[in-house]
Amino acid sequence: PELQVKYNSEVESTNSLIKKKAKSGDYTPPLLLLAGEQTAGRGRRQRSWYSPAGGGLYFSLLLKPEVAPEELYIYTVLASLSIQHALQHFGFDADIKWPNDILLSDSKLAGILSELLDCGDSDNLVIIGSGINTHIEEFPREIADRATSLVREEGMAPPVEALMSRIIAEFRTNLEEVTRQEAREDLHKTWVEALGLGGCKIKIRTEQGLFSGTVQEISERGELIIDREGNLMHLDTGDIMNFYN
Ligand code: BTN
Repeated sequence: PELQVKYNSEVESTNSLIKKKAKSGDYTPPLLLLAGEQTAGRGRRQRSWYSPAGGGLYFSLLLKPEVAPEELYIYTVLASLSIQHALQHFGFDADIKWPNDILLSDSKLAGILSELLDCGDSDNLVIIGSGINTHIEEFPREIADRATSLVREEGMAPPVEALMSRIIAEFRTNLEEVTRQEAREDLHKTWVEALGLGGCKIKIRTEQGLFSGTVQEISERGELIIDREGNLMHLDTGDIMNFYN
């Protein structure tokens, strides 16, 4: 089916609205919901996402997954690569930070929040939400040392519509591919290369605490595997505090 596109000038959270509307049957995949502003934008790990009007691009995609449950992470990979490539198209040299942050000059430019919508038996849906800071000039004090925007880094940003259509174009190409195992392996490989973490020593904060180790590999399920003096630790998510070769 064709991708439906919806726009709301103001929502609490595009992820939350999609969740609600998909549950009630109002929204069916594939669907893209964009918002001009979010009053209760959500980030990973119960954090909020600053989403002022005119400040950035806030959107969520509702998709029916076409991969096995353990491979769902590939949709976030797809999103981060699509965003990175779209930004590159406009001349911004953004990096991907595991698991799915987009950085510009080491500061956070965009984030991805993917959620699984449990619809009973087999019809689970995925929601991939992303916020990209394009025009924000001043961030709230709590995040000012970590966050950045295109305008802050480079003094200008493309119109959000142009950036969005580029992301959709990237996404469409990749989405068709994702059903093929070989293509998924290629996506995974491209992502792992973009992360550039192989062999790095890292310090990472997780819900279980702070850990240090050497990156062994990124698994087929997207986990970060670190070697801690001979013990391998598999991590699904976390905040990498710093890393060096
Ligand atoms: C993160 O890095 O913590 C993820 C941030 C995700 C923010 C986006 S903005 C659009 C979508 N709706 C939300 O409430 N959150 C995501």
